[in-house]
Amino acid sequence: MFSPEGPSLRELAVQALSSVERGYDLLAPKFDHTPFRTPDSVLSAVTTALTRTGPYDDGLDLCCGTGAGVDVLAGVCRRSVTGVDFSAGMLDVARQRVGVDGPRVDWVRADARALPFAPAFDLVVSFGAFGHFLPRELPGLFAQVHSVLRPGGCFAFPLVAPPGPASPAYWMLLGFDAVMRVRNAVWRPPFVMYYRAFRLGEVRSELARAGFQVELQALREFGRQRDGSPRVRMVVARRRTD
Ligand SMILES: C[S@@+](CC[C@H](N)C(=O)[O-])C[C@H]1O[C@@H](n2cnc3c(N)ncnc32)[C@H](O)[C@@H]1O
Repeated sequence: MFSPEGPSLRELAVQALSSVERGYDLLAPKFDHTPFRTPDSVLSAVTTALTRTGPYDDGLDLCCGTGAGVDVLAGVCRRSVTGVDFSAGMLDVARQRVGVDGPRVDWVRADARALPFAPAFDLVVSFGAFGHFLPRELPGLFAQVHSVLRPGGCFAFPLVAPPGPASPAYWMLLGFDAVMRVRNAVWRPPFVMYYRAFRLGEVRSELARAGFQVELQALREFGRQRDGSPRVRMVVARRRTD
């Protein structure tokens, strides 16, 4: 599937019938050859946007996978960069792949819903992982991010505008989510991955409730939709200092 180096259809099916953690352990060696890795165009637009607001000292890539966001942080953080993920397989690939001159890089295996850190970061980023959290888990997840940020620190992530019903992508994502709901109703362990569950309105109000001041920045590289709204935004949630 996807490319000659990517996983076969059979491998993808086995992964999708596993838990999220185990599924990524299995996918890890081929993950960078799938469309599930955040594209370089998004990583580079976020780096440019963070360069404008940085520099930062200590950064955390939440659900780092093979380290796509660690590369971003290495460009904007002066002292240290940490990648956290619960898949040991993904972390192994990240460790082998990422070589950074500059800030110290650490890899930590942990669940994003129970982060083992003090408020030691002034920047947390996350790419391509929010579909793995149910809407009811967002308050807990955002509270965890809030707890590891220093006062005034930023939680930043890109958010793509959902396609409208006139776009084939709308129906594809709707279909994918429907298949996952059926899969999770009849099969254990669950594999939580829903494309349409992480919506700007709800995300914004949950971030505010968790104690963040939220700002949206258009990532201009991706242009605008017909109604003039940005195709891709960067959400910047700042931990209040009071
Ligand atoms: C689609 S991958 C994205 C990886 C990387 N951020 C990127 O953009 O290429 C999602 C990652 O989230 C991790 N993940 C999912 N749920 C998690 C959780 N509760 N705690 C820690 N990591 C989690 C998975 O193990 C996987 O590595």
